[in-house]
Amino acid sequence: MSWRNNLRAVEPYVAGEQPKLKNLIKLNTNENPYGPGRLVKQAIRDFEVDRLRLYPNADAEDLRHALAEYYGLKDRQIFLGNGSDEVLALTFLTCFNSDLPILFPDITYSFYPVYCELFQIDYELVPLRDDFSIAKEDYFKENGGVIFPNPNAPTGSTVTVEDIEDVIRHNPNSVVVIDEAYVDFGGDSVVKLIDRYENLLVIHTFSKFRGLAGIRLGVAMGSEELVSHLYDVKNSFNSYPIDALAQAIGLASVKDSDVIKANAAKVMATRERVVKELKAMGFTMPESRANFIFIKHESANAKDLFMKLRAEGIVVRYFNQPRIDQYLRVSIGTDEQMDRFLEVMKDILAGA
Ligand SMILES: Cc1ncc(COP(=O)(O)O)c(C=O)c1O
Repeated sequence: MSWRNNLRAVEPYVAGEQPKLKNLIKLNTNENPYGPGRLVKQAIRDFEVDRLRLYPNADAEDLRHALAEYYGLKDRQIFLGNGSDEVLALTFLTCFNSDLPILFPDITYSFYPVYCELFQIDYELVPLRDDFSIAKEDYFKENGGVIFPNPNAPTGSTVTVEDIEDVIRHNPNSVVVIDEAYVDFGGDSVVKLIDRYENLLVIHTFSKFRGLAGIRLGVAMGSEELVSHLYDVKNSFNSYPIDALAQAIGLASVKDSDVIKANAAKVMATRERVVKELKAMGFTMPESRANFIFIKHESANAKDLFMKLRAEGIVVRYFNQPRIDQYLRVSIGTDEQMDRFLEVMKDILAGA
């Protein structure tokens, strides 16, 4: 026996790298190229440093109220955490306590199986269809919970609100969690179903649409009952997950939503243009409603492309994983960044 036998050994999630190279075009972690907007800059300038002497408001009440208004919900239907990764972790811990396995797609956000291992939750991988779409019928069986992102990551493809509603209707005995990290880039949110289904939880993040990956803010929305359980678990773990500065910044971001929506529209327009050009170069991809695309070339090897792009200072995401090892996930940057990406890609394919 050794003290080592008493340690919890887990295989951690590996985040996309944050390389320190200069002049890098970083298209690997789906950050927003336009940043958080002017009201956030103002909020940081106006922030009274002396406030940091005190503990922050434990439940980020002002931000919670602003979000409730933004989404048309009650304050008590909003839960906030330190990035949606933390919100997801607390969701797994709070909502998935069944003897039955929870269900999620075989190709999806790779943090889900990591939470399952950490919290010892049994799970079953549900294969996506060949075209990477989610078949709602696959979730019409007994389970201990359901979770998938919509749009899905890393594929970018979507499930309709009607199909999600069907999944919820077939699962009255489990919590259905829809991770809408990317929904604001052209997807259709199921927040509007929350008041009809007490077992629906919808998760959003400030990292993508709001351009605030560096501040760590995530949101869960659902019935008051579900949300109050999340608060109980959070308060058994960390009373103050959101620091005072993050609360002020989050509030400024919600006030700046019109500007942020305009930035998201720019990202979507760039995405459509890039998709067209890539198709002309021999790439295929599922239709994306996210701020990234998931591309496969008819003849070039994905890992090879990844390495050659990197050598030119362009970082995208490659997953060495069954079914998707011939794909690259490319975040949508500014027009200028994407022009450079397309130019380099053309040269690589031409063998230059
Ligand atoms: C589907 C999905 N959910 C959640 C997250 C986590 O986002 P954050 O922790 O930055 O809020 C990500 C990040 O890439 C994601 O792809």
